[in-house]
Amino acid sequence: MITEITAAQLEPERFIADQVAQIRGAVGEGIAINALSGGVDSSVVTMIGHRALGPRLRTIFVENGLMREGEPDAVVGVFKSLGVPVEVVDARGEFLSALAGLTDPEQKREAVTQTFYKRVFGRLVRESGSKFLLQGTILTDVDETVAGIKRQHNVFAQLGIDPQDAFGYRILEPLVQLRKDAVRLVGRALGLPESTFARIPFPGPALAARVIGEVTAERLASVRRATAIVERALSGTGAFQYMAILHEDRVTGMRDGRRDFGQQIEIRCWDSIDARVATPTRLPFDLLETLAADILRDVPGVVSVTYSIAPKPPSTIEAV
Ligand code: XMP
Repeated sequence: MITEITAAQLEPERFIADQVAQIRGAVGEGIAINALSGGVDSSVVTMIGHRALGPRLRTIFVENGLMREGEPDAVVGVFKSLGVPVEVVDARGEFLSALAGLTDPEQKREAVTQTFYKRVFGRLVRESGSKFLLQGTILTDVDETVAGIKRQHNVFAQLGIDPQDAFGYRILEPLVQLRKDAVRLVGRALGLPESTFARIPFPGPALAARVIGEVTAERLASVRRATAIVERALSGTGAFQYMAILHEDRVTGMRDGRRDFGQQIEIRCWDSIDARVATPTRLPFDLLETLAADILRDVPGVVSVTYSIAPKPPSTIEAV
């Protein structure tokens, strides 16, 4: 049972000092590696780990081919400016081949998990001689996995999986007592730029969580383009999270006077405090119309754009 530290209870400086001490205690004189995706949680863990271990922490950004436009360069650039070197490991081929042919959401999540932890980090840990992986699991990830709602890609112990046996290393999770609102307070206290901890959440399985049905390079390119359009258009709304989802079903449309059996993009935009419950943002219709026009113009093969108005529950924030 994990004891939650709520945003109201959190004393960020004390929390950071405790986590730094725990990481130093666990890793001793050894080295650790740390998985940075550039999301809120992994960015905060990277800074705590860096405080604890300095150059004995190797921070890795895995280019899995599932990230958003320009994301690898942007993440490396932000951390470089904070004095944290980030190594980029290109594993695009491994992820795409693991996802080929899979359509079931939990199987897709499992494929991302196994590729990330067993193949890519298994190799990196062996090569580096490190025994620990630091990562940004938060309490909401654990809750939903344990409840059997969604297998979050980064939860093991609570499912009875020992990472040491399964992957050959231990996993340290400094943020596991916190939810997103508390993580942001820690990010602020660590001196992270607002752009890092105030950004919207992005899931571990990345754009694979936004493609319903098979994840292929071509389908990823469509959802990546639509994601860039949605994020640009909705960044000023103050919403908790917003996204584009590529559907599997095609629908009849028309283009240049001819039938076009085309693709569908669903837009979701959520109001939420901590992702446990969420409601769709009441976006102005004009904004939705502009968004639809941009997507229909710039994402090849799309003939339908919808806006989800279902709350969580029974929806979940991500579609996969
Ligand atoms: P759901 O879709 O379960 O999402 O309502 C709740 C929050 O968690 C994010 N999410 C993930 N985060 N690994 C993560 O680190 C994951 O596998 C994952 N799946 C969903 C989601 O974006 C939302 O903020």
